[in-house]
Amino acid sequence: MLFPKLSVFFLLFVIFSMFQAPAFATRKLHIVYLGSHAHGPDVSAADLDRVADSHYDLLGSFLESYEMAKDSIVYSYNRHINGFAAYLEEEEAAEIAMHPKVVSVFLNQRRKLHTTHSWEFMAMDKGGVDHRNSLWKEARFGEDTIIANLDTGVWPKLESFSDKGFGPIPSKWKGICQNHTTHGFSCNRKLIGARYFNKGFASVNGQLNSSYETALDHEGHGSHTLSTAGGNFVPGANVFGLGNGTAKGGSPSARVAAYKVCWPPINDTGGCYDADILAGFDMAIHDGVDVISVSVGKDSVSNYFEDGMSIGAFHAVKEGIVMACSAGNAGPTPGSVTNVSPWMVTVGASTLDREFQAFVELQNGLRFKGESLSRALPEDRFYSLISGEQAKAANASAEDAMLCLTGTLEPEKVKGKILACLRGESGRVEKGEQAALAGAVGMILCNDKPNGNDILADPHVLPASHINYKAGTAVMAYINSTDDPLGFITAPTTQLSVKPSPFMAAFSSKGPNMLTPEILKPDVTAPGVNIIAGYTGATSPTEEPFDKRRVPFNIMSGTSMSCPHVAGVAGLLKTLHPGWSPAAIRSAITTTAKTRDNTFRSMLNASFVKATPFEHGAGHIRPNRAMDPGLVYDLTANDYLDFLCALGYDKTKIGLFSESPYECPKSANLMNFNYPSITVPALSGSVTVTRKLKNVGSPGTYAARIREPSGISVHVEPHLLKFENVGEEKSFELTLEAKKHDVAKDYVFGGLTWSDGKHYVRSPIVVAAAHPKMTLAGSVKNLDEASGY
Ligand SMILES: *[C@@H]1O[C@H](CO)[C@@H](O)[C@H](O)[C@H]1NC(C)=O
Ligand SMILES: *[C@@H]1O[C@H](CO)[C@@H](O)[C@H](O)[C@H]1NC(C)=O
Ligand SMILES: *[C@@H]1O[C@H](CO)[C@@H](O)[C@H](O)[C@H]1NC(C)=O
Ligand SMILES: *[C@@H]1O[C@H](CO)[C@@H](O)[C@H](O)[C@H]1NC(C)=O
Ligand SMILES: *[C@@H]1O[C@H](CO)[C@@H](O)[C@H](O)[C@H]1NC(C)=O
Ligand SMILES: *[C@@H]1O[C@H](CO)[C@@H](O)[C@H](O)[C@H]1NC(C)=O
Ligand SMILES: *[C@@H]1O[C@H](CO)[C@@H](O)[C@H](O)[C@H]1NC(C)=O
Repeated sequence: MLFPKLSVFFLLFVIFSMFQAPAFATRKLHIVYLGSHAHGPDVSAADLDRVADSHYDLLGSFLESYEMAKDSIVYSYNRHINGFAAYLEEEEAAEIAMHPKVVSVFLNQRRKLHTTHSWEFMAMDKGGVDHRNSLWKEARFGEDTIIANLDTGVWPKLESFSDKGFGPIPSKWKGICQNHTTHGFSCNRKLIGARYFNKGFASVNGQLNSSYETALDHEGHGSHTLSTAGGNFVPGANVFGLGNGTAKGGSPSARVAAYKVCWPPINDTGGCYDADILAGFDMAIHDGVDVISVSVGKDSVSNYFEDGMSIGAFHAVKEGIVMACSAGNAGPTPGSVTNVSPWMVTVGASTLDREFQAFVELQNGLRFKGESLSRALPEDRFYSLISGEQAKAANASAEDAMLCLTGTLEPEKVKGKILACLRGESGRVEKGEQAALAGAVGMILCNDKPNGNDILADPHVLPASHINYKAGTAVMAYINSTDDPLGFITAPTTQLSVKPSPFMAAFSSKGPNMLTPEILKPDVTAPGVNIIAGYTGATSPTEEPFDKRRVPFNIMSGTSMSCPHVAGVAGLLKTLHPGWSPAAIRSAITTTAKTRDNTFRSMLNASFVKATPFEHGAGHIRPNRAMDPGLVYDLTANDYLDFLCALGYDKTKIGLFSESPYECPKSANLMNFNYPSITVPALSGSVTVTRKLKNVGSPGTYAARIREPSGISVHVEPHLLKFENVGEEKSFELTLEAKKHDVAKDYVFGGLTWSDGKHYVRSPIVVAAAHPKMTLAGSVKNLDEASGY
């Protein structure tokens, strides 16, 4: 019996529904969140039982009995997070939410999953083969740091996770290697732990079979993200022979652990559920990890305490763990950024300077650069071209056929030709599968307008090239212009030092932050386009039958891929500066980021228009600079509570988060929350913002330099800050005022830099006059699956 509690419940469920108790049938898995625990970190088994009992008691007082409460609770979060996941009626949930000890009650919601040359691109190889002066060398490659992810599990046999050369497991580690005897799964001194959590997923699927009883990664996403954050250096990594080089994790000497909370689709219910995410967080915090990377998100923001990601991350940061989260893949829609909690490092995605170029050549002499990871066409000659629209099946619409959606193409028309498909609606690789099924020899994937210049090298199942919007329009026009259009796709080759780079990926979710516009999100950007990292050797129990290729390394794109780059850097900073708080580490990463590309001009977005902080946050990470930021904007756990007070969260409930007594300050002001960026979403007249800097470098005198946003005057007081000791803190005030005749109608952007001539501590300034024009075009898409659209 896999889930005794659950199956008893389901038995009850069936009986009750048969005997016309319709209300019971509507019971859904809810999370009841109670804040923090009274017990300290050294928790005994008796403490854990006592907490579980208190949960049964609390719920029992609302249900018929203690026993019934026990049956409906599937998780008691009893280590760091205080709460439980239980099957409840809507009315019961509403009643429980009124209890004074209850912070929030919310449904078990689903989230979706949102090289490696990437480190060289960030100059981590500076100093030659021995990495002299690089953060890698200085931070001993992340030795003794433990990095975890919450994802689809891990493929333990990857070389990225081999323990050759690793010493004993750090003594602070309290985790386990959870496996199931029917699956070959083992941990080692590198991959020191693995666990899985599936009860939240089971709540929508009924009983799961044994293939769901393992931390093994059937999907590849979890192995990819974990090896990016903390995988070993593995030479000879390539995808179908392309991009050959050494695969590198950010913290290659760190230990890693996988918490599997995301599950493959059964009847489209796949994903990562809040109840499992919270269980994963509670255990990871307990097990002693230092950094958690989570590339998972939802399609909208919810309140900080009705969101499993936000609650889990809050407790992690409270225990000193750095939280790296993906910003989402719902760009380029404004306001699409997710994972916006101020205790997270929220990461957008941008390109590398590497391309896998496959050119589209037309018989009329035009030639367009595209990207692909596919094989070459069988013969070196022109092939007939056809557009999806021209190849439409009788029962399909022209629009659907142009997108090469399933069942829309007429094989008789497509056979032996190169098919041109429009990006959107279905997955990019999926379009190639449809093309191949219809008998095409190749595919030209043409961007739609919103995706502009955002082209991706995908492992297509047939010879293919993905071209930008302008090229796509030209190819379509050519196909329309002649009766016998002919074309060719060159075999992909790897090109480095591509310019301009980085630029923002079109899919990278954008600000403004729709939950708390005073907090700039995303915080930073990192490589997330065409990232090569470790993959899986498994076939998923619900595998798409078409693509049977298995590779030890694969290329993926998404903010899912950029997030673990930041986790890897955070791991190094943890080794180098064990005393730094998560906020200090975030500040070091963001204030040293750059906003220029490799042409020394401002970073662009995928339409090749200058990108803004709503796209890249403070800019692109520069790991080597982050190790010596000079000054940091620090925050304590109490500062986050003050933040919640300032937002007007229930004062008595905020006290539940803290083990020690806590009271909201009399004048909690959001403007003075010590965030490393400055955002004023509704400026009328003038506003004064206070910030505090902490010296983490050598003694020095720092001077402020301001780049005023257009139409806004900015004054800083004092103008000079003198630091004599490490740890010394100094405050300053920034006054922003709208210039009378030049009021900003939309968001405008500027910057503040503190410098002692050696360090540059940069913060973006983002301002809009009251009532900014904010249009939210279209609906927000599903998030964070390695962007396959
Ligand atoms: C999985 O766990 C079982 C029981 O704990 C253990 O006997 C077995 O060796 C483990 N399997 C592997 C492959 O490590
Ligand atoms: C990748 O590079 C390594 C080392 O340079 C070489 O030994 C190997 O054959 C290469 N593999 C491919 C597929 O090009
Ligand atoms: C999926 O849906 C089908 C059709 O509705 C149903 O027969 C099947 O039992 C479902 N499978 C699971 C695992 O829920
Ligand atoms: C069109 O008909 C074919 C064959 O019956 C079917 O497989 C396909 O799904 C249909 N397409 C649409 C868009 O309805
Ligand atoms: C090609 O022709 C189709 C239908 O005749 C039309 O809808 C489409 O806009 C044309 N495309 C271009 C790029 O001219
Ligand atoms: C488990 O269930 C999945 C989906 O419902 C199915 O595809 C798979 O074959 C099953 N595996 C086992 C070991 O029973
Ligand atoms: C680039 O920025 C411009 C101006 O803000 C915007 O209109 C456009 O949609 C952006 N493009 C992408 C792909 O983000």
